Amino acid sequence: MNSHFLLLMTKSYIPYFLNQPDFRIPQNITTDILKEKDALAFHLSLAEYQHTPLISLPALAKHLGIGKLFVKDESKRFGLNAFKGLGASFAVFQILQDKPDMKVFCTATDGNHGRAVAWAAQKFGKEAVVFVPSDTTSNRIQAIEKEGAKVIQLNKNYDDTCAYAEEMSIKNNWELVQDTAWEGYETIPALIMAGYLTQFKELETDLHPREFPEVDVVFLQVGVGSWAGAAAYYYLQRYSSKGPALISVEPEGSSGLLDSFRSSQRVVPNNPSYTIMAGLNCGIPSLSGWELLKNAISVSLNIPDIQVEEAIRCLYYPLEDDPRIISGESGAAGLAGLLAMMQDPVFQPVRQQLDIGPHSRILVFNTEGDTDKESFQKIIS
Ligand SMILES: Cc1ncc(COP(=O)(O)O)c(C=O)c1O
Repeated sequence: MNSHFLLLMTKSYIPYFLNQPDFRIPQNITTDILKEKDALAFHLSLAEYQHTPLISLPALAKHLGIGKLFVKDESKRFGLNAFKGLGASFAVFQILQDKPDMKVFCTATDGNHGRAVAWAAQKFGKEAVVFVPSDTTSNRIQAIEKEGAKVIQLNKNYDDTCAYAEEMSIKNNWELVQDTAWEGYETIPALIMAGYLTQFKELETDLHPREFPEVDVVFLQVGVGSWAGAAAYYYLQRYSSKGPALISVEPEGSSGLLDSFRSSQRVVPNNPSYTIMAGLNCGIPSLSGWELLKNAISVSLNIPDIQVEEAIRCLYYPLEDDPRIISGESGAAGLAGLLAMMQDPVFQPVRQQLDIGPHSRILVFNTEGDTDKESFQKIIS
């Protein structure tokens, strides 16, 4: 039996935390970089650059009892089937401005970020070495190798793989391009986060939020929290406390952010267990992500794998005239959070607190397509 149901049966487990954000932007290296760097100008200069689509799903919105549902489809980003190329390309570009002779870029990854670093390194005529944890599937490893990287699988979890990549980078004089920050390693993760801001700037032209936000709630899936942290920065600097409510979504087997909210400090996930959401299967939240998310997130929740499988099928077998969207396990996690929120009675207090109903306009991100094709086929059949 799935641990979610076991915990629910004990009636003591609540899969969410209601936060009281203060909407303050912390002053640190990360927010200085996010303020200063214009990654959109860099991305516009790339031949592969294309604004990713914003798709409306009116039939699903009606079915769920909300007003509007938008999906920003990042599976269309740079031909990489995920959004991660935004961050890796900008970070590699910025590093090369200071260190043009750097030959090798290194990272630890559970899939998409490693593929993005390999792609970016190759783009600039450089090499990439990518370390992956023990549970990374062979399909994901092959996708990274296809971008020309050397991939080494370790018998370690995500956090230990990151530590090993750092050790090897220092030893071999490689540049570590890690998408999570810790004390003393904040600049490169901040450049990656600055790259992610392009997505949100694109939304300005799609949603036209001049005075007031055109969405009321945004669901953000979280691995280490760098991407959601960039989103938090975007909404804080643009709207302060007047922006949409931000909801973080994690796998129940890897909820470092939810556990951190409960502990009022950054912690490794309690009771980690296997999840099919590979991109979200991380350890302790990023230092820089946490600093932003704790001030911006209204609700932190987690979901079981079966919920994300349902979300993938919802997008693949659309209702009425809604368009089909191909989404992977981490890609559909934001929608899975919304499905759980609208369908599971345990979330009734959250719906009430955020006043979610037929008037609500909700935004989710499909952060990846079918990055593991075998697993995707199993889920949709
Ligand atoms: C598809 C996908 N979505 C979301 C995320 C979460 O990003 P972060 O680790 O910055 O929280 C990842 C991370 O790898 C990912 O691959």
